[in-house]
Amino acid sequence: MIDISKIPSPCFVLEERLLRRNLEILDSVQKRTGAHIICALKGFSMFSTFPLVRQYLHGCTSSSLYEARLAFEEFGQEVHAYAPAYTEKEFDEIMMYVNHISFNSLSQYERFKDKLAQNKAKTGKKISAGLRINPEYSEVETDLYNPCVAGSRFGLTFDKIGENLPEGIEGLHFHTLCEQGSDTLERTLIHVEEKFGHLLHQAKWLNMGGGHHITRKNYDIELLVKLLNRIKEKYNVQIILEPGEAVGWQTGYLVGSVQDIIDSRGIDVAILDVSFTAHMPDCLEMPYKPKIWNSENATINSKNEGKHVYRFGGSTCLAGDFIGMGDYAFENELKINDKIVFDDMIHYTMVKTSTFNGVPHPSIGIWKESNEFELVREIGYEMFKNKLS
Ligand SMILES: Cc1ncc(COP(=O)(O)O)c(C=O)c1O
Repeated sequence: MIDISKIPSPCFVLEERLLRRNLEILDSVQKRTGAHIICALKGFSMFSTFPLVRQYLHGCTSSSLYEARLAFEEFGQEVHAYAPAYTEKEFDEIMMYVNHISFNSLSQYERFKDKLAQNKAKTGKKISAGLRINPEYSEVETDLYNPCVAGSRFGLTFDKIGENLPEGIEGLHFHTLCEQGSDTLERTLIHVEEKFGHLLHQAKWLNMGGGHHITRKNYDIELLVKLLNRIKEKYNVQIILEPGEAVGWQTGYLVGSVQDIIDSRGIDVAILDVSFTAHMPDCLEMPYKPKIWNSENATINSKNEGKHVYRFGGSTCLAGDFIGMGDYAFENELKINDKIVFDDMIHYTMVKTSTFNGVPHPSIGIWKESNEFELVREIGYEMFKNKLS
């Protein structure tokens, strides 16, 4: 069990045993279906854990040159890529790292297909090319995360491809889920098969993207296994899943601490050494209210009798750097330097941080399975300065 008193503040800390638990669940799906599960770096890219992740997953997927390079350098094995558009400037280097690449449009494929052939002739390495398809069906309710909204820039609709896969295309890729269950996948596959079934018979692989919440409690793994086996057998394709969130789901925390407590017209505001906008931007973007250890929800309607209610304010001077969706109630009064533990902050949150306002970036650490804390990285002034001019 993690001992928070041993964690410096501020710090992102991952619990190794929780990551292994997720990886074992993902691996059980691989073993029962033959699917390859790869880690989407955009959601989970804590590469100090890759020696562990590599024991279970087949590789990584990247959405840019830098992620592809990170996958190649730190993970190895399969490196996949998908980006809304590749640039001429980057493409040669991307080819050094990847072995699967998905294109968002036919024009992008046309632009780079000769390079793929030249690269094969020069290096002997074959990069398997695919197309992202858009089945025009998604149950994601927040438009910000819905790749199938009208006017979406993601993927080819069925009318754009026709009866046959373009020469040289070996795979299809769709990504339409976000934190969803296998029941959503089942309904999505109806649309994928209806619109693209004829092309699936011609493909070697089908990448079903991310958004599969496989490691969440109550996720229906049996249904997922049934669906994957059915598709694999019907179309004779290698199935690939590329979750990010399901890898890092509930594997760790952002630990901050109270630096001041002020009264703002009757509201107790605790100011922290972490920031919502700089260190937990999803809380403001989505928006959502993160769980804080040892606290309960305090809203206008909740009573929280006998409890101490606080609003948490971040360390930047952005007026909205606080969780606007209600406050938190604690059994005991908070004191300066008390640790505040934000739950489930390892996927996306950690990847999306910034140094806005020059606020110090949280350190990064691992609570090992041996019950020791390993401080992996302290991030100082240099990182802040180096991205400015
Ligand atoms: C193309 C693609 N693949 C995979 C993922 C990972 O999704 P998740 O982290 O929700 O599993 C995303 C997320 O946006 C994506 O856009």
